[in-house]
Amino acid sequence: MSMAGSAHAASTLGTAAAAQGRYFGTAVAAGHLSESAYASTLDTEFNAVTPENEMKWDATEPSRNSFSFASADQIVSHAQSQNMKIRGHTLVWYSQLPSWVGGLAATDLQTAMDNHITQLMTHYKGKIYAWDVVNEAFQDGGSGARRSSPFQDKLGDGYIEHAFRTARAADPNAKLCYNDYNIDGVNAKSTAVYTMVKDFKARGVPIDCVGFQGHFNSASPVPSDYQANLQRFADLGVDVQITELDVAGSGTAQANSYATVVRSCLAVSRCTGITVWGITDKYSWRSSDTPLLFDGNYAKKPAYDAVLSALGGSGGTTSGGTTNGGTTNGGTTNGGTTNGGTTNGGTTDGGSSGGTSGAACSASFGVVSSWAGGYQVTVTVKDTGTAALSAWTAAWTEPQGETIANLWNAVQGSAGGQTTAHNAAYNGTLAPGASTTFGFVANGTAPQTPPAMTCQPS
Ligand code: XIL
Repeated sequence: MSMAGSAHAASTLGTAAAAQGRYFGTAVAAGHLSESAYASTLDTEFNAVTPENEMKWDATEPSRNSFSFASADQIVSHAQSQNMKIRGHTLVWYSQLPSWVGGLAATDLQTAMDNHITQLMTHYKGKIYAWDVVNEAFQDGGSGARRSSPFQDKLGDGYIEHAFRTARAADPNAKLCYNDYNIDGVNAKSTAVYTMVKDFKARGVPIDCVGFQGHFNSASPVPSDYQANLQRFADLGVDVQITELDVAGSGTAQANSYATVVRSCLAVSRCTGITVWGITDKYSWRSSDTPLLFDGNYAKKPAYDAVLSALGGSGGTTSGGTTNGGTTNGGTTNGGTTNGGTTNGGTTDGGSSGGTSGAACSASFGVVSSWAGGYQVTVTVKDTGTAALSAWTAAWTEPQGETIANLWNAVQGSAGGQTTAHNAAYNGTLAPGASTTFGFVANGTAPQTPPAMTCQPS
């Protein structure tokens, strides 16, 4: 019967995400549910789960037509008792695939694949929010080709759409996702997936969502076009989800990467939720990378604070640092606004009366949220002249030693020792009096006094 927090910003990942119309989930291993700190952190912080291994082919159908659901059932009943969403992971994947599957000839393999999909989806019918129907079907690198697997090699490209059609028939109420890694930015692999999804939508092949795994490290950081890439998939008419997020590292750098991912999801209206790939670093599949939000003792890391803050939540500040009273932002919104909206009550925005004759603009800086080591800004650019603008460039001086981790809805540059942001392809046009926004996340401490910003109409 909790009545706490009704008038305050949400104080857990799940409730903060829910206030944004999203879920915040984690991968769960059945074997750890009996550990009380594991279960209580799960139940307190998260409102969605993905079985980390328990629904994979090797776990559910180790020998042909002999199904074992005990471990997965344990996770499903735990999640149901907590009203959590459940992501099913995964039906057709080249890995964690029992060897008997690879030994089948084509016709038989097709039968076995259909049976596997149908049996799993029927067993969990009505309980699964979204299924990763096909996982990791594309090769890395620049080829854009399909990855070799028993399915690909014996059934050809068509196995993917066949799997989706079989899945739709088995549980028409589950969302059907394609899931992969290294498709987080615009690159050859993500474009190959994009082309497939576009084709599926055009031909009526049932697909509802694309999962972006989001396994990041220094060699593979959150790409600068992350949000734009999520948006281009969403624009095809599918939901997008961050399905296996983890970020190698620690401290501020890790926190800022997490914040960027959350911000990007919130800015894409069809990004329906985020799942991190585990609760505590000690059980991570990449434990030595310490990539999760809770350390080995279930203490909240700076990355946790950054995620909660980016979700518009507040409370539980663990990391020492400089908060700046940030976090609040009125509790609710914080997401949406940036995405091309003309909203944002912003701050100053000098301009007003009469308007400068000809083309002119202003740019005003507003801190949206902050956490130890980083902060997020929304800049409102307004046409303060009497003529319509077709382009604009804002400029300001970043405090010394601070860097911008990620900037969206504009193109970052530099000129005369200042940081600049030129309009994106889609938001350069402004009528007199109209405004638009862009945003960024910076590494550093949120300024008490907003820096002076200039705007030029070109
Ligand atoms: C990983 C699990 O976390 C490990 O426990 C297991 O040993 C291997 O698989 N992409 C996926 C996930 O889709 O299923 C993988 O999970 C990580 C990469």
